[in-house]
Amino acid sequence: MKKDKDFIDDLLGRMTLSEKIGQLNLVTPGGETLTGTVVNTDVADKIRAGHIGGIFGIKSAEAVRVFQDLAQETRLKVPLMFAEDVIHGQKTIFPLPLALAASWDMDLVRATARVAAREAASIGIDQVYSPMVDVCRDPRWGRIAESPGEDPFLASRFAEAMVEGYQGADLSRPDAVMACLKHFCGYGGGMGGRDYDAVDLSPATLHDVVLPPFVAGMRAGAGSIMASFNTLNGVPMHANRAVITELFREKLGYGGLVVADYTGILELIAHSVASDRAAAARLGLTAGVDMDMVSETYLDTLEDSVMAGRLDEAEVTAACRRVLEAKLALGLFDDPYHRLDWGRAAQPILTAANRQLARQAVAAVTVLLKNEGGLLPLPAPDSGKIGTIALIGPFVEDRVNMNGTWAVAGSASTVVPIADGLREAAGNALSILTAKGANIVDEPWLATRLNVHDWKELSVVIDTRSPEAMIAEAVAAVSVADVAVAVVGEAREYSGESSSRTDLSIPEPQKKLLRALKATGKPLVVVVMTGRPLALAEEALLADALLVAWFGGTEIGHGLADVLFGKAEPSGRLPATFPYCLGQVPLTYAHRPTGRPTPGRFEKFTTGYVDRPDDVPQNDGLFPFGFGLGYGKVAYTPPRADRTTLTGDDRLDVTVTVTNLGDRPTLETVQLYIGDPVASISRPVKELKAFRKVALAARATETVSFTVTVADLDFSIAETVTDTRRRWEGGAFDIHVGPNSCDTQAVRVVWDGPQFEGNRT
Ligand code: NOJ
Repeated sequence: MKKDKDFIDDLLGRMTLSEKIGQLNLVTPGGETLTGTVVNTDVADKIRAGHIGGIFGIKSAEAVRVFQDLAQETRLKVPLMFAEDVIHGQKTIFPLPLALAASWDMDLVRATARVAAREAASIGIDQVYSPMVDVCRDPRWGRIAESPGEDPFLASRFAEAMVEGYQGADLSRPDAVMACLKHFCGYGGGMGGRDYDAVDLSPATLHDVVLPPFVAGMRAGAGSIMASFNTLNGVPMHANRAVITELFREKLGYGGLVVADYTGILELIAHSVASDRAAAARLGLTAGVDMDMVSETYLDTLEDSVMAGRLDEAEVTAACRRVLEAKLALGLFDDPYHRLDWGRAAQPILTAANRQLARQAVAAVTVLLKNEGGLLPLPAPDSGKIGTIALIGPFVEDRVNMNGTWAVAGSASTVVPIADGLREAAGNALSILTAKGANIVDEPWLATRLNVHDWKELSVVIDTRSPEAMIAEAVAAVSVADVAVAVVGEAREYSGESSSRTDLSIPEPQKKLLRALKATGKPLVVVVMTGRPLALAEEALLADALLVAWFGGTEIGHGLADVLFGKAEPSGRLPATFPYCLGQVPLTYAHRPTGRPTPGRFEKFTTGYVDRPDDVPQNDGLFPFGFGLGYGKVAYTPPRADRTTLTGDDRLDVTVTVTNLGDRPTLETVQLYIGDPVASISRPVKELKAFRKVALAARATETVSFTVTVADLDFSIAETVTDTRRRWEGGAFDIHVGPNSCDTQAVRVVWDGPQFEGNRT
């Protein structure tokens, strides 16, 4: 008979305090040293002693079996739970999370998570530390690469899709893994874009911007969340009882497991809220953090704290219950080996179907920012229209960078490099000349820093040739080619954890290369590899066609060839604003209006910057949120509302007609935003509320419909993080529809409802 909650009650009743505390200890057996803490090196002994509840960072089925065997020798045989940082794929690496969000295709997102779950489960992994759903509006932050971008609505849909993909319909199935929503919460808003830095935000912003994806992920059934490293309004999240327990658990109804982030409990000392390890452990546990990752402060101190009367044993029991319930949900009490056994039979790793999905994903996430004269797609290789392509740049033969950051189990050896993909597509019909053209960066110290996370292969290797010699070689190749395709951008570890930047430009050696390629006069396609929004003003001028390919993972070569030769449509739309320049960030389309909204060159006292030219919007990005072109050209009618006056719980139907004016099929992402011109608090100028990715045949017209309800109009009135309510206020609303957050057309409706003129209460 399947084990149930009665079994957990019985088990808990038989556990000693020490055994319960053991379940709260989450370790990694690796030998690395991070944040000054020596990673656990005596894992086997501790498992035997009942001092470990979960292990993460495991890379093989053999290791899982060995450790689980040890757990099965303990008095109560409580199974271990195994976790891993599976962020955008396990072995089949998909585009970065930021890129997957750019697909605006939640079926695709769900499918990538499903593949990742099957691959991870097959080696015995029970839980993945994903999805990361930190909304981020500051591209200096390196971890924006792991996030779904700047918008809470898009991030919420992403959270749901990822959770559904990982967990499937039944978490106890051997090919399902537990999702972990992270980092809870506010982590995307660190001061100055610096990792781990303090976050100060209003309770209303917390509820309207930061929390929605966590709530959406929770409602989709996420089994766990991970606390974040930052302080939130002065309180470190690992000690934040108000937000974790009082708000998320008690008020919003979260019933799952909470894990610490790496040494996050111990770091309460560095955050200066705990005087010693014992105090840190008590603070963490009573805040609601069930498992202590790596720091072992729970293991070392909680028993003494209970014995000394400084901690109620009930807190330990409650946390232990949640660990055991997670294991129960995962089916581990029925069979601790069931994922391993299934995986051995199913062999789901790096299958042709997985690779095919990764290949499709590349086109779906790639964002076309400019396509002068319809340069893209390039003529099909066998069309005879072009004979030679010069493929230039430090990434064209590269494998190591292509997986991007946080691909811990991914391998460079399985990556299809861009040059291979293009050569394969070209066959004998077309010649592909390649040249490196520039180093990713020229500074040795910077290369060393960018390689700091590389334990297998270096991602930045400086060529000893002079920059001039490399550029000359590239220019020579371009001069005999019909078209130049330059692949430039960031090294993979320019983004990711502890990888913030003070500059959002493509590194200078590569900019010099682009200038030289432009000077040849040949048509120039620029493909940008990046883990964050970059400031691409110069590249947008130099390039005839500009594509953002992010880091595309295992199948980047094939996927990019599909895009360049038009076998697939680049259908990504930006999940975060790309600024003109660094000084504009943080930046979002969903900003609140100011009292001085119209910047102009010689106008005094308006919002904006004195050193920005007048011919560019001062406070908007170069490429707005939601922006992306396709290979078709799509025209929109203004949105039509089925009525313009509504009351209470009415539903509003909004339709728009989109027409593909082009001669080839295209994919269009129709976006609906709502603006609230008068409310009791100043509301963002527009907020995304719905979107639909539609396939349009050549010359086809489609009508796209959306339904708007009062649930799309509400916002938070929040005095404190817990004293908060959502409400909607009657009045006028502008319903915008368009291809991105900027180029919308609107219809105004008046929705009769509660009135709170100038009155927040
Ligand atoms: C630290 C990171 O912040 C988190 O995202 C990750 O899951 C853990 N380390 C475990 O590796």
